[in-house]
Amino acid sequence: MAIKIAIFASGAGSNTQRIIDYFKGNSNVQVRLIVCNNAEAGVLRIALNERITSLLIERSRFFKEASYLPILTEYGIDWIILAGFLWKIPEKMIEAYPHRIINIHPALLPKYGGKGMYGHHVHQAVLDAGDHESGITIHFVDEQYDHGLTIFQAKCPVANDDTPDSLAQKVHILEHKYFPQIIEQVILKKNKR
Ligand code: GAR
Repeated sequence: MAIKIAIFASGAGSNTQRIIDYFKGNSNVQVRLIVCNNAEAGVLRIALNERITSLLIERSRFFKEASYLPILTEYGIDWIILAGFLWKIPEKMIEAYPHRIINIHPALLPKYGGKGMYGHHVHQAVLDAGDHESGITIHFVDEQYDHGLTIFQAKCPVANDDTPDSLAQKVHILEHKYFPQIIEQVILKKNKR
């Protein structure tokens, strides 16, 4: 039976689209559910177009310990992938999915992580610091923001004339290239054990 993943996303969903495309026709891994906390998010349209069930979640219920877990169980979710999801994952969910929640962060952690560090805030901070490189970090999720064990990093150069937008574009290229294949590697490896 296919390993089922839920993608948690609350933005445009470009990573979600890549992950869906990557696993299309793959009998080992199925994108079963899109979980979103923003009714306006582009990712909901992607779910609709791709005929994947979406679940619009609500803040108070999400943070009430374990209250969405039964739904994940109902859909048989084995892994959770955070692709632009900005809420902290509650402890009970982490306990229910030990080393089975993977996040992507648009910088080279441990730099530029933590609460409030998402999207353009991250790229602006990299530019403000005058760094010559940035990149992506794919990591397991633990109880702290952007903190769990790093699985993979890739780098891109930062040019003197980069803006948050141009840097975001470079970072997105890395994300789209690596995130789906790293997800596949990690989950197939773990499921073999
Ligand atoms: C991605 O760049 C991801 O790394 C970032 O949100 C973007 C979502 O883009 N995540 C964070 O900043 C988490 N702290 P997308 O909606 O086009 O996939």
